[in-house]
Parts: sequence; C-alpha cells; structure tokens
Amino acid sequence: MPVKETTAPQVLLNNIGTLPELLSNIASNMLLEIEIGCGNGHFLSMYAEERDMSYLIGVELKQKRCLKALKKIQTYKLSNAAIIRGKAEELIEQLPANSVDKFHIYFPDPWPKTKHRRRRFLRMTNLENLCRSLKPGGEILFCSDIYDYYLQAKLLFLISRELRLFEAPPPPQVLKSVFGRKFLSVGNEIFFISSRKLTD
Ligand SMILES: C[S@@+](CC[C@H](N)C(=O)[O-])C[C@H]1O[C@@H](n2cnc3c(N)ncnc32)[C@H](O)[C@@H]1O
Repeated sequence: MPVKETTAPQVLLNNIGTLPELLSNIASNMLLEIEIGCGNGHFLSMYAEERDMSYLIGVELKQKRCLKALKKIQTYKLSNAAIIRGKAEELIEQLPANSVDKFHIYFPDPWPKTKHRRRRFLRMTNLENLCRSLKPGGEILFCSDIYDYYLQAKLLFLISRELRLFEAPPPPQVLKSVFGRKFLSVGNEIFFISSRKLTD
C-alpha cells in the first residue's frame, strides 16, 4: 500500500482564507480532489478512505453539515481529508491555476425549480474558475437527479473550449451517500456526467 506523505491537518473547519496554508501542507505526490457541497460528508469520507494517494477537500455552506462531515473524518481516522466551511464559489476563485486533479459535484441543486436555474452552482463563471484551477487532464465529475440540471451541465461542458466529455461510471460511493440512496429509493434516475480538461 502506498505511504501517505501528507502533513496537512486532518481536518479544518475554518474559512476559505485558510486554503493557501492547507494547500501548502499537502504533499506534492498526493492528488488534490475537491467536493463542492459535501453535505454531511458521506461521499467524501467513504471515497477518501479508499484513496490514500488523494487528498480530499470538501467545501460546504452549512455549519451543522460541516461538523457532521468532520465527525466522519475523525471516526474513520482519515488523514487525507479536510472540510472548509464557506461558499464554493469563493473557494474556487482562490485556487491556484492548474492545481486540482478532480472536482466532485454531486446532487448540488438546492433549487430544483426551473425559475431558480440562474442560482445553480454550475454556471459559466464558476465553470471558468473550475477549468482554470484544474490540471491539464484533470476531471469534473457531476451528477444530479434533476434532468434539466444534467442537461445544463452537459451543455456547459460541451461549449467549454477547455473540456471534453468522456464516458465513465460514477464512483460507487456517490450512490451510497444519503442523497444517492434517497433518490434511488424513490425511483429517481441519477444522471452522471464526466469531463476532462484538455492537455494542450
Ligand atoms: C444535496 S446536498 C449533496 C451532498 C453531497 N454532495 C452528497 O452527494 O451527499 C448539497 C449540499 O451542497 C451545499 N451547497 C449548496 N450550495 C453551495 C455552495 N454554493 N457552496 C458550498 N456548499 C453548497 C448544501 O448546503 C448541501 O449540503
């Protein structure tokens, strides 16, 4: 099993201003993966547990959910995950260019109504920052049970000159999170999409 070399703090419940310090403590041989809107940390903790060469940062708006996510990180004794409380929009603005290996965006829609589309996280300005901070070859993985949001994501990925869609199954932990299980249990279809930043 590969040896973890990160010296980054195990957890971090603070604000986005602490991001540079956190990043500077992640060993250079680790992949950097970020979950946008990590909720209670179900996906993040299960995924980080199986990826000891990745460092996972979850960003989440709601304090209670951050605390639950932190608790999971501590319970599983994960040394490769941290949670930052704040707006994902602000976090991605501060990420260095070409620094992130993977963004995970799962069930991000707190506003499923069509009239609230413009508030969705996945919109052009945010996508530009995601692309800027992705390494060449880095990936954005997205899923939603809202078909309309899936189409919006697909369209944005397609018109981006920096991204290409590719076929891949979702990481299995996505469907095991509270939201994944909830949507599957009521028979909702889950729409998954992956895109990769071009290398030249
Ligand atoms: C439906 S939950 C999904 C949680 C998790 N991704 C999962 O699959 O289990 C969406 C989460 O995104 C968070 N969220 C929504 N907009 C956000 C934003 N702009 N920045 C950070 N978190 C956000 C919400 O507070 C909520 O906890």
